Amino acid sequence: MTRDAVARALQDRARAAEEIIRRYLPEENGYNRTVTEAMNYSVLAGGKRLRPILMRESFRLHGGGREQLLHPFMAAIEFIHTYSLVHDDLPAMDNDDYRRGKPTTHRKFGAGMATLAGDGLLNLAFETAFQAFEACESEEERQCVIRACGILAGRAGIGGMVGGQCADLVAEKEQRGVRSKEELFYIQKNKTAAMIESAMMIGAVLAGASAEAIARMEQAGEKIGLAFQIRDDILDVEGEAATLGKDVGSDERNGKLTYVSLYGSAQARDDVERLSREAMELTAGGEDSFLQDLIDWMITREL
Ligand code: IPE
Ligand code: IPE
Ligand code: MG
Ligand code: MG
Ligand code: MG
Repeated sequence: MTRDAVARALQDRARAAEEIIRRYLPEENGYNRTVTEAMNYSVLAGGKRLRPILMRESFRLHGGGREQLLHPFMAAIEFIHTYSLVHDDLPAMDNDDYRRGKPTTHRKFGAGMATLAGDGLLNLAFETAFQAFEACESEEERQCVIRACGILAGRAGIGGMVGGQCADLVAEKEQRGVRSKEELFYIQKNKTAAMIESAMMIGAVLAGASAEAIARMEQAGEKIGLAFQIRDDILDVEGEAATLGKDVGSDERNGKLTYVSLYGSAQARDDVERLSREAMELTAGGEDSFLQDLIDWMITREL
């Protein structure tokens, strides 16, 4: 596929994912109206919907059939990801003003309401994922859903995304020393790759894939996730705010430990390419080439 064709296919898939995600969003009424408005604002602001798309591609790669099990998890992972962005942008964290092409949730609703919107999205994610149990038609399917819930919870928590965000904050303005490489790997593996591993693994689990295939998706997810965060670090220095839909120069302003600050942009580019090629090998063999084309497209993504 040409680059333009991949970009178009990605847009189509993002639209399809968004249609599914919308079904699980809260209504806006009653005394909790403001928090539900803030939740819907942050989810519907835009976003590439990469995690639900990757989850669905992994499901298809492993011959998944009944999408009723998958849809709640596609919405759930996007809710967790969106909450992580809302909190990541707060003044107490990265203190950013723009996200997904719009003012950040705290700029629009205030820091208190943005904090609650994140809390609301995290809980809504699990309420939504648990709806997959209602779609189960066998004990085998129930076991798959239990497994998927465990992966989702674990990879989002202190052993995953929250742990990575913790190390990211601790590393801010620290003296850079010999520990930096190990520390940076921990940050990127956890704050970003963990959620992408989760997407790739859950797709395979819900398709009833073998333990070996699930382990392969875990490895692929790690590589895609690391490449994704390294590219994110490059774009924070070299990208266009208008294209990215978020602030640039945020990392330098906050004194972050990033791939670019530690290794420089040439090495960063080489490593994005290497990790992505390795991920493409681990995900080869599908009926259509979209997943491979998508990983390839991400190497030089501008948004
Ligand atoms: C941004 O993720 C945060 C990182 C983990 C680098 P995305 O670039 O996937 O953000 P959206 O969902 O498209 O807004
Ligand atoms: C954020 O990393 C990863 C999350 C878990 C939200 P960044 O702080 O680099 O993400 P951006 O650049 O603000 O999207
Ligand atoms: Mg951050
Ligand atoms: Mg940030
Ligand atoms: Mg960034």
